[in-house]
Amino acid sequence: MSIQIIRPARTLQGSLTLPGDKSISHRYAMLAGLAEGTTRLSNFSTGADPHSSLACMEALGATIVKQDKTIEITGTAGAFRQPEHPLDCGNSGSTMRMLAGLIAPHPHTFTLIGDHSLTMRPMERIRKPLSRMGAEIHLTGGDGAVGGHAPMTIVGGPLTAIDFDTPIPSAQVKTAVLFAGLQANGTTSLTESVRTRDHSEQALKAFGATLTREGEKLSIPGHQKLKAIDATVPGDLSSAAFFLCAALLFPDSNLILDSLGMNPTRAALLDVITALGGKIKVLTVEEHHGELIGTIQVNTMPGGLKGIAIAGALSAQLIDELPVLAAIAPYTREGITIRDAKELRVKESDRIALVAKNLKAMGAEFTEYEDGLSIPGNQQLHGAQIDSGSDHRIAMAFSIAALRATGDTEIHGAEAAAISFPEFFTYLDTLCLR
Ligand code: S3P
Repeated sequence: MSIQIIRPARTLQGSLTLPGDKSISHRYAMLAGLAEGTTRLSNFSTGADPHSSLACMEALGATIVKQDKTIEITGTAGAFRQPEHPLDCGNSGSTMRMLAGLIAPHPHTFTLIGDHSLTMRPMERIRKPLSRMGAEIHLTGGDGAVGGHAPMTIVGGPLTAIDFDTPIPSAQVKTAVLFAGLQANGTTSLTESVRTRDHSEQALKAFGATLTREGEKLSIPGHQKLKAIDATVPGDLSSAAFFLCAALLFPDSNLILDSLGMNPTRAALLDVITALGGKIKVLTVEEHHGELIGTIQVNTMPGGLKGIAIAGALSAQLIDELPVLAAIAPYTREGITIRDAKELRVKESDRIALVAKNLKAMGAEFTEYEDGLSIPGNQQLHGAQIDSGSDHRIAMAFSIAALRATGDTEIHGAEAAAISFPEFFTYLDTLCLR
């Protein structure tokens, strides 16, 4: 386990191009693996998670050539092979859940495994709809608090379309159903009452699939074939979130982020930054394969940070950014309250518990709820020993809190950042003036 020491900073200045978006990289990797032809992806995510998806595609018969951040994937033209070994999804819930939908229509037996954290995460949410479509899915456990989880065995075969109402707002569950529906008999419909990130819808269309949305209802006809694409993966907004929040902490910070993914179903953070008192200027914006990519400049407004109450649909839309918002909350004037975010307890770690533990270590006051936290503002934190719990977003979130603390902070388990953002500590060091 590695320890990273974070010293307080004076301000944050500079410009940055973020590595490719993790969510989009997963989807492009998987659809390229199923498609016919060779897909070329520039600025593919450098995080370990999307590379778990690539490794699974290789095990399923795709050919992968990696050259730095450019990846070429020659797909299987709709026919995955029987893998020789279990498909190792590493730490990646996205890989396991989305892949389950992608492979379930194929006539093989697949075993999906993951690391300790992934083995604890709920998988019943994808087993239910996929088994309604006719897939035979066996989970491990299922009667304890955790519910059914990995290792998971899928006995694949022809699937039948369903109409599905998603009970939890989850883009991963939506994607599993869409990927299965793409290859099923009939037209699969899915209704989501809280709109989650739509990268799968955009990616499916980019690879040539037909898919329609009417209000909250998505419909995807089955037996569709995909064609390879050339694409550049937009910079990861959830990785940018750490620097955006860091910029808010200092009165004279100036941060420019280019080639940044700004998909509106992902960009709630930009509104929150503005509500907190940050000033965001969109310098350029264009669209590629349905994804918005832009350059933004972020400054701070005089008067310091306000506060915000995050609840309802907003909590679901900000789910990956909530840890860093919680970590900067003590430095706001009015504090930050997060509710309706129980999902945080079943991410790579119990993120509510770990945020609470680490806020406490830094001397903050707060109230913990089953579904969130309420963190008063106007608090000065002190340097402390932070436990990342092997969770990438916790390691990075508390590195940002450390920038305004008194004294140095030690991030224990800092290597976890590499799950989504291996360059994080180097970039942080470059941007911080001390
Ligand atoms: C993701 C969706 C979110 C998010 C995860 C990536 C995706 O999970 O937390 O990091 O790429 O679809 P849920 O959809 O399960 O909330």
